[in-house]
Amino acid sequence: MVQFDQGMGDFSPDSLIEYANLKEEHNMGKATDFRYNTGATKVPWAAVGENYNTADLMEIIKFLMQGEGPAYDQAIAAVYEQVKKLGEVATPPGKLSLASQVEAAENACNEYLGTDSSTFVTNATSGFEIAYKYAGLKAGDEVIVPAITFVATMAYPLAVGAKLVFADVDPRTINMDPADVARKITPNTKMIVPVHIGGYPVDMDPIMKLAREHDILVLEDAAHAFGAMYNGRKIGTIGDFAAFSFHEVKNITSFGEGGIATTNVPGFAPDMKRARFLGLDFTAPIKNWLYNITPIPGKEKPFVAANYSTTEIQGLGLKLQVARNEEIIEARRRAAAYLNSRFAENDAIIPQDLGNENIKPTFHLYLLQIDPAKAGGDVQTLKKKLEEKSVTNIPHFGPLYRFKVVSDMGYDADEIAKTCPVCEEVFYKRFTHLPLYGLSDEQLAYMADAVLESVAEMQAGK
Ligand SMILES: Cc1ncc(COP(=O)(O)O)c(C=O)c1O
Repeated sequence: MVQFDQGMGDFSPDSLIEYANLKEEHNMGKATDFRYNTGATKVPWAAVGENYNTADLMEIIKFLMQGEGPAYDQAIAAVYEQVKKLGEVATPPGKLSLASQVEAAENACNEYLGTDSSTFVTNATSGFEIAYKYAGLKAGDEVIVPAITFVATMAYPLAVGAKLVFADVDPRTINMDPADVARKITPNTKMIVPVHIGGYPVDMDPIMKLAREHDILVLEDAAHAFGAMYNGRKIGTIGDFAAFSFHEVKNITSFGEGGIATTNVPGFAPDMKRARFLGLDFTAPIKNWLYNITPIPGKEKPFVAANYSTTEIQGLGLKLQVARNEEIIEARRRAAAYLNSRFAENDAIIPQDLGNENIKPTFHLYLLQIDPAKAGGDVQTLKKKLEEKSVTNIPHFGPLYRFKVVSDMGYDADEIAKTCPVCEEVFYKRFTHLPLYGLSDEQLAYMADAVLESVAEMQAGK
C-alpha cells in the first residue's frame, strides 16, 4: 500500500506534482484534487473518506442486479465468496470525485460528439446554469424558450427574474418554430434556448442565423438528444452552449443523475471546468487558497462558480453507456419504425418523423399525434382510452406558461397562450408521447394494438 504521507517534505508545486505522479504510478486514480494535501505529516489527510468494504460491495451488486428466489440466492452466495477473496487482494480507489473516471467519460463524450469541451456535471440543469451565468442573465433580460418543454429549461431565468418569452412550436415536431422566434426577438433578448424535444433536432440553422444577427447567445437544451445529428453535425455542438442529461429516464444514464455541458465559446472550455467546481483549476497545483479561487469570465462580466461536481462512479457509468449509445439509438429507431408501420393503416394517426440523411433523432420518446378531424375526437379522449388499456403515455411536456410556478411568478398564461396558438392546439388536441426504451416485441405490439383500437373506437363514435 502506498504511503501518501512519505516524501512530502514541502508544499512546493514540485512536491505536489511528485505526489500526483506517485498516485498515478500506483494506479490510485489521478490526483487532480489537492484539497487535502497537507504536506509531510504524521497524520496524513487522505483524499478519500471512508472506504467501501466487501459487505458494502455485495449490497451494491445486489442493488444493481436485483432478484429473489433460490437461483438468485445461490448466485449471490457464489459471488459473495469471490468478492471476499477479491477484498483480500484489492485496494480501494484513490479518488471518488472528479478524477480519472470523470475525465474518461468526458473524453468518451468528446470523441463521440467531436468537441473538446465536454464537462461532466451533476445534471443538464446545472449545465444550463453555467451558460446562463456566462450570459450574465438578470432581471430585465429576455430569454426565448419553446412553449413546450420541461421546467428545467427555464428554472434559472425564472429564478433570477429574467423575462421568459415563449416561442410557438412547429406542429410536426413540437420543437421551437424559428419563424416565431424571429417575431419575438427584441433588443432585450439575451438568449435563445432551443430544446430538442424527444431527441428530434430543432431546425438550428435559422436559429443560429438570427442569433448571430442580433448578438444573442444560443443554449441548446439537448437533454434528450445525445447522439442526434443535424445537417452533418452532432446536436449539442451547434449553439454557444449545450447540455445533455443522463438522468435515469434518458436513453443512457450515469447511475441516475448526470449531465454533459459543452461550449463553442472560443476559449471558454477550460473555464467551464472551473465553473463546475467553485472556480478552482485542478490542472495545476493549488498554491494558495486565498488567491487561486477566481471568478469565471462571462460575456460581459465575471461570475462566481457553483459546485456541480460529479463522482468517479458516475463517470464510470457514463463511459460504459456512451460506448453503447449508437446501438441504443438504433434499437429505439427500430421500435419507432415498427410503430409507424403499424399505424400506417389508419390515416388519422400521424407517425413519428424518423428523420433522414441529414436529421437523425435519438428516439428518446415516440411522438404520437392524431388528426382530430379524422380521428373523431382529440388526444384527450385517446389518452384516456390508452390509460384504460394500461398503456403509459406521458403528457408531461406541456405549455410551460401553464405551469403553476410560472403563473405564480406573475405571468399571464391566457395572454401568452394567444401568442402560441400551435402549442395550444397540439397539446390539447393532437399529441402525446409513447415510451421507446428496451420494450419487448410483445409490449410494442400491445402498444400498437391499443393505439389502433382506441382510434378505431373514436372513429366509430364509441
Ligand atoms: C427537456 C428537458 N430539459 C432538461 C431536463 C433536465 O435534465 P436534468 O434532470 O439532467 O437536469 C430534462 C429532464 O428530464 C428535460 O426533459
